[in-house]
Amino acid sequence: TGCFTYDPGFTSTASCESKITYIDGDEGILLHRGYPIEQLAEQSDFLEVCYLLLNGELPSPAEKAKFEQTITRHTMVHEQLANFFRGFRRDAHPMAIMCGVVGALSAFYHDSTDINDPHQRMVASHRLIAKVPTIAAMAYKYSVGQPFVYPRNDLGYAENFLHMTFAVPCEPYKVNPVIAKAMDRIFILHADHEQNASTSTVRLAGSSGANPFACIAAGIASLWGPAHGGANEAVLKMLTEIGHKDRIPEFVKRAKDKNDSFRLMGFGHRVYKNFDPRAKVMRQTCSEVLAELGIKDDPLLDIAVELERIALQDEYFVEKKLYPNVDFYSGIILKAIGFPTSMFTVLFALARTVGWISQWKEMIEDPVQKIGRPRQLYTGATRRDYRPLNERG
Ligand code: CMC
Repeated sequence: TGCFTYDPGFTSTASCESKITYIDGDEGILLHRGYPIEQLAEQSDFLEVCYLLLNGELPSPAEKAKFEQTITRHTMVHEQLANFFRGFRRDAHPMAIMCGVVGALSAFYHDSTDINDPHQRMVASHRLIAKVPTIAAMAYKYSVGQPFVYPRNDLGYAENFLHMTFAVPCEPYKVNPVIAKAMDRIFILHADHEQNASTSTVRLAGSSGANPFACIAAGIASLWGPAHGGANEAVLKMLTEIGHKDRIPEFVKRAKDKNDSFRLMGFGHRVYKNFDPRAKVMRQTCSEVLAELGIKDDPLLDIAVELERIALQDEYFVEKKLYPNVDFYSGIILKAIGFPTSMFTVLFALARTVGWISQWKEMIEDPVQKIGRPRQLYTGATRRDYRPLNERG
């Protein structure tokens, strides 16, 4: 008994108060701590955005330098964690590895279990921002059978990640600064997005007082699905399956068919009923990366541009306000940089880690928050009596 609001998918339920991220879905506006995403993507850098999300304000030059030094100091993972990787099949999906290994950090940092200590909360946040790129690069190296590459603390955040991912011991490797800048921008565009499925998962897991590393592993699990972070991987698979511009109408027709489960991946959003502002920046970054790499005619990009054009004119998509989202162009950039599709969602997880941990921290510090415990509308059998096995059937 009881009176509850039935809200499947939480389409109209605010689960918390938050000062971190503001979205106006009708206008296509995204602000982090008040700053427009376009300005951050153009003028800031990822570590500065991390500081902003975590602390609420942009850092002073001294605070920025100290933060960068702190994150850099935490980039190594315990050598024993490398052994943990070896338990996975070599063809394991890197997101499966990420769920397992990030969750395993909770076994390495028992001190973080003391979530009531603000210092421990901050240390856990720094460790996560610093170590997730190392773990992501290790997941990639493990999948291609190459030795792990240790972090290099003389490099910037994105540069170091590219180095750990693509350097091999037998060959010199120099990170292309244009690509590092694009990578950094992709991280900024994915850093936070208020109460989406994975962030809500982190908050719900954390609301019981669980270890923060375990909570982030829960977020990674939620992000993996194709309706959420897995969409960037799904977009590239879809563009590959379409194969040629001539086949676009056929796929658009399928996406509109109620009896066909196919959807245009990278289109639509629960909150944005306008262009996803991140998609606009991503489109621009995509052109820059392809130009830098000397890729003139990318067949997948051609299909993507044409698909976007056709869908934006189609009555179905216009009426339902389905616009390209952040995942629509990111896959093309990541593929051009050299990442396999299975790594796309890992990169999303890497960047979103700061959003998850900032939201976790805000929740723990919010005196109003209690354990998350949704109710249900029970629709099962009414009370009945147990019958012994020999009386059944
Ligand atoms: N293609 C075709 N039809 C669509 C699509 C699409 N991509 N997205 C939504 N619709 C239709 C849907 O069939 C429904 O129609 P009707 O009202 O006639 O039943 C209507 O639009 C509303 O869709 P919904 O599923 O009720 O909306 P939602 O808010 O629950 O879902 C979404 C949002 C993002 C899961 C959905 O738009 C989708 O599946 N998009 C494709 C996957 C994708 O690109 N996900 C990435 C989201 S952005 C980044 C992230 O969160 O990680």
